[in-house]
Amino acid sequence: MAPQDLLLAHSGVAKDQVALDVEQATGGDVVVERVLGVGRMARVYVAEQLSLDRRVAVKVLLPRRGRDRRTLTRFRREARAMAGCSHPGIVSVFSVGETARGLPFFVMEYVEGETLEGRLRRRGKLPLQEVRRIVTAVADALTYAHGHGLVHRDVKPGNVLLERGSGRVLLTDFGLAKPVKSVTRVTTLTGTGELMGTPEYLSPEQAERGEVDARSDQYSLAVMAYEMLAGRLPFLGPEPQDYVRQHVEDTPPWLPRIEPTIPLAVSKAVDRGLMKEPGARYGSAEAFGQALSAAAEATAAAEAMPQRAWWGYERQLVQATAIYAGAAWGVLEALTWVLETFDLPMEFRQPALLLVVGGLPLTLALLCYARNRPQPVEA
Ligand SMILES: Nc1ncnc2c1ncn2[C@@H]1O[C@H](COP(=O)(O)OP(=O)(O)O)[C@@H](O)[C@H]1O
Ligand SMILES: [Mg+2]
Repeated sequence: MAPQDLLLAHSGVAKDQVALDVEQATGGDVVVERVLGVGRMARVYVAEQLSLDRRVAVKVLLPRRGRDRRTLTRFRREARAMAGCSHPGIVSVFSVGETARGLPFFVMEYVEGETLEGRLRRRGKLPLQEVRRIVTAVADALTYAHGHGLVHRDVKPGNVLLERGSGRVLLTDFGLAKPVKSVTRVTTLTGTGELMGTPEYLSPEQAERGEVDARSDQYSLAVMAYEMLAGRLPFLGPEPQDYVRQHVEDTPPWLPRIEPTIPLAVSKAVDRGLMKEPGARYGSAEAFGQALSAAAEATAAAEAMPQRAWWGYERQLVQATAIYAGAAWGVLEALTWVLETFDLPMEFRQPALLLVVGGLPLTLALLCYARNRPQPVEA
């Protein structure tokens, strides 16, 4: 934040000029608290909307971006695109406005929590069932957007919000979203313009030919799924061009090699979602979400099954035999020592032997049975 932007507001909290302009543009109804995040194009604040007594988030175009006509158009389109969506997995837009200095902004639902990017930074990789929940939720939101003729084009962890407490998963940042009928051509990295999307999550066709449709979003969602499961991206840059080349040409490392606990079926679903050819992927984000969910569900069901009884029983049998052999050997050694030391007749060994050979295994078998008895299943 530029020092000249810092002004001391009446509340005693340091606010930048843009925040003060937003407050003024809303007639004082929206009171900015602090900056939530700063992206390529915009700054997002958390604020208090006094008239409705609720917390809101306000996204304002960055002053240096406000001079660019194309960016202005895109920002206004973002607000309209989000406002046109009514889905629990997409952040709701409440109102739009413009500051006295001509910077557009919009007021939206505030999601208290963290971004998926933040969670991954904090925890590295995520458990399969958590990945399943997040992927399904984002796939639902994308399916809704696609159904309304909108391709997001920037699906990545920084644009997925995870609400604290409720566990809600919300897709945001429709800054690159575009109304798409079937296929749209956009400027690519190899062209003269700026790269649309984020290199790490870019689909091959988006990177190479600038073609986007719903299947590009599905690809980016699969990249995100891979990252959550493996704790690393399928391709490592470091330069944007490196990502682009690998998305177009390379096969990512096999998931179970990075994380051996990932079930084969789950790995297969992600692999298909990451196919280079859009036609070889799942037909929709929904289909990808369902496939990953079904694979993860099958794993959860297998994990919930009780341990196979024969293995439990066999293991105990081996343990019992070992204990028995040790005990029998010890008892016979001790008996021989007693008979020899006290000069007793060796015939005494006979009944003692019977006791050890017959009685001990019987006791152990009974103990084994008692421990292995099938338990009634809880409802
Ligand atoms: N509705 C919201 N509630 C809470 N935090 C938000 C919200 N919208 C955005 N953010 C935060 O602000 C950051 C930037 O927002 P985003 O819309 O992605 O802007 P950009 O287009 O600059 O990437 C996000 O990564 C997130 O941390
Ligand atoms: Mg963003």
